Amino acid sequence: MDIFNATRKFYNAAGVHPTTDPDDPRSQFAVDRYEDHLCKLISPGMRALDLGCNAGRFTFAMEAMGAIATGIDFAEIPLLHAKKVAAKRGSRCQFNIGDMAALPYKANSFDLALLPHNIGYLSYQRLESLSVQLKRILSDNGTFIVTMHDELVKRAGEETLPERYDVQTGLIEGSNTIPDKGTYASPWYFWTVAFAKYIVEEQLPLEQVEQIGENRYVLIFRNNKPKNGNL
Ligand SMILES: C[S@@+](CC[C@H](N)C(=O)[O-])C[C@H]1O[C@@H](n2cnc3c(N)ncnc32)[C@H](O)[C@@H]1O
Repeated sequence: MDIFNATRKFYNAAGVHPTTDPDDPRSQFAVDRYEDHLCKLISPGMRALDLGCNAGRFTFAMEAMGAIATGIDFAEIPLLHAKKVAAKRGSRCQFNIGDMAALPYKANSFDLALLPHNIGYLSYQRLESLSVQLKRILSDNGTFIVTMHDELVKRAGEETLPERYDVQTGLIEGSNTIPDKGTYASPWYFWTVAFAKYIVEEQLPLEQVEQIGENRYVLIFRNNKPKNGNL
């Protein structure tokens, strides 16, 4: 299963809808959940990166909190919408097309990076690679925020899970139906909080983990450079 192409195809087909459109108040529930955390961590002028930004609701939210915000996503359709919203609002948000695990940015480009509920699209190896890149592109003392479910808590008791789960890679096969468009493959990696911590901490020490509601977690990592002299 090629998760990269399947996910891109799915999000391009899904396009933009009221619950993801930053121009629609119905999309704000997702930002509201983490608003307090983001407000505490963002200060005016901070350079913030939204990894897997879709139509940009978190990117615009971080700008509203004072950040100079950039979003990156590999699905053209929602990204195009984000750019239109930015132009309409006179926003300074930048939107780049690209792979959130192969970042096209120079060293010390950002002070904060946010991975909002997108960890499931990364294999274990790709989160490792992303962490190495973040160590380089985040400033000294920069912050990496991961918001995620713990799949063990979320999926315990799901009867069909064993047959959809690949023990070698951690990939769970799934599908999603988009009204009037059809059914799309929607694979997802099985992540737990402990495993995410373990991988990212190889590069960026963990500062805090907080549980939000029943099964949402905010993990905050700090970039205490350098690990390898020439970063
Ligand atoms: C669950 S949506 C979340 C979007 C956004 N964070 C929000 O809350 O509106 C996942 C997004 O991640 C993007 N995505 C998944 N894998 C990606 C990758 N490897 N590189 C860039 N974007 C990716 C998808 O295209 C999609 O827009």
